[in-house]
Amino acid sequence: MTSLPAGRPAPAAAAAPLVARTVPLDQDRLWRRAVVAACDARPGQRVLDIAAGTGTSSEPFADSGVDVVPADFSLGMLRVGHRRRSDLGFTAADAMRLPFADDSFDVVTMSFGLRNVSDPDAALREFLRVTKPGGRLVVCEFSTPTNRAFRRVYSTYLMGSLPRIARTVSSNPDSYVYLAESIQAWPDQHGLATRVAAAGWSGVEWRDLSGGVVALHRATKAPVEG
Ligand SMILES: C[S@@+](CC[C@H](N)C(=O)[O-])C[C@H]1O[C@@H](n2cnc3c(N)ncnc32)[C@H](O)[C@@H]1O
Repeated sequence: MTSLPAGRPAPAAAAAPLVARTVPLDQDRLWRRAVVAACDARPGQRVLDIAAGTGTSSEPFADSGVDVVPADFSLGMLRVGHRRRSDLGFTAADAMRLPFADDSFDVVTMSFGLRNVSDPDAALREFLRVTKPGGRLVVCEFSTPTNRAFRRVYSTYLMGSLPRIARTVSSNPDSYVYLAESIQAWPDQHGLATRVAAAGWSGVEWRDLSGGVVALHRATKAPVEG
């Protein structure tokens, strides 16, 4: 884990093997396991998975016996999720105006959603409001590869090859172009950590996954004094 005062993360190992290991799509299973571990939710604790979509990011929690609330502002996504997993309590919620009381969750987590929110800083403040004092935030989001050579290759792939391949194989290539552009425009690990801290969270730290292609940011809501 890297914490905010420590500055930027150290470069990762050699670039080529990383490229080979990073791009395969099954990396997402590893990322999801890392999110569940970082949330460290104990039995009886309540987790809000905001921007849960159809619930793919909520399932590992539910499957390990954690009380998880999958929430999203897309009713279409929620409907598909409910059809797939009717045992989960899918809830309509906008990350910037959550329909939950203050201090109501032990953990708030968001996977691959914050980048899409129109005002991420407002969302981070709202997550703080609904988290219990002493509770945790875990954000999983695309980030910046830590190795310079790998970063160059990744960036070329992201901005060049991925949209080009998408145009030939996908019926909705624009979504890949948006994905590539939004990843490029998103702050790096240190930049996001600074914004999480500015929203009022304490002890902000992050862990790079897949060489920094993805980063897990973790923070705590300060406990009540006295
Ligand atoms: C890429 S999906 C991620 C789904 C899931 N968390 C996962 O990891 O598979 C991004 C989701 O963010 C949701 N989203 C974007 N902005 C949102 C907002 N302001 N409030 C709630 N959900 C939002 C979208 O509806 C979409 O379902």
